[in-house]
Amino acid sequence: MKISVLTMFPQMFDGFLCSPLVQRALKKQIAEIEIMDIKEYVQGSYRDIDESPYGGGNGMVIRCDAVLPVLNRIRTEQSHVIVLTPAGNTFVQKTARRLMTADHLILIAGHYEGLDQRIIEEADECISIGDYVLSGGELPAMVIMDSLIRLKEGILREGSSEDESFENDRLEYPQYTKPAVYEGKEVPSVLLSGNHEKIRIWRKKESLRLTMRYRPDLLEIREPDEEEQEYIRQINNE
Ligand code: ADE
Repeated sequence: MKISVLTMFPQMFDGFLCSPLVQRALKKQIAEIEIMDIKEYVQGSYRDIDESPYGGGNGMVIRCDAVLPVLNRIRTEQSHVIVLTPAGNTFVQKTARRLMTADHLILIAGHYEGLDQRIIEEADECISIGDYVLSGGELPAMVIMDSLIRLKEGILREGSSEDESFENDRLEYPQYTKPAVYEGKEVPSVLLSGNHEKIRIWRKKESLRLTMRYRPDLLEIREPDEEEQEYIRQINNE
């Protein structure tokens, strides 16, 4: 998979590109990442990338003639073009699963107050990473790349993403490791019992407990099955 990012602040990606996840993906040739500085591609260095909006209003808007020529140069039949904006569909784990199979993703990170609508019209979709406004699309681009790359085969240990939060519309159960007792705080004894069925049940119930507490909305997206309904009854009676 190739990911091209169009940005005016390429330096923001320096740390991200050094992260162990990205390094592993690059070394194993699982992903190729190209950070493109829009400023370098604007014809004539005198030209501004942003302008005040027609019709008046606050802030600056990124010009379409700064972005579209670069986009058209790198875009192919295989490209899937995404504009990062708070006014897009919310990015969730299912979005990551859908996008991870793309051959070529182009992520357009806007800055200032926004992008000229003619850029947005050229995109295949607009994605927001949540209901808050950031100063630009760079952090969202990194969030999306991180979540996609870690799903790729050969990046994580096999099966290790399956039980994760959101993978089946539930939050992940709590995890413990050594020491078994730390300053009087004990690891739940069932996890030390070696009884796989009891551990499975404990995890399922604790995953439900967390989901009920922090993300009850997920229980509406996927309704509890019979086993889960029983655990919910038990939790409510505790
Ligand atoms: N740009 C600014 N805020 C954003 C958000 N929440 N998601 C995606 N892009 C953005």
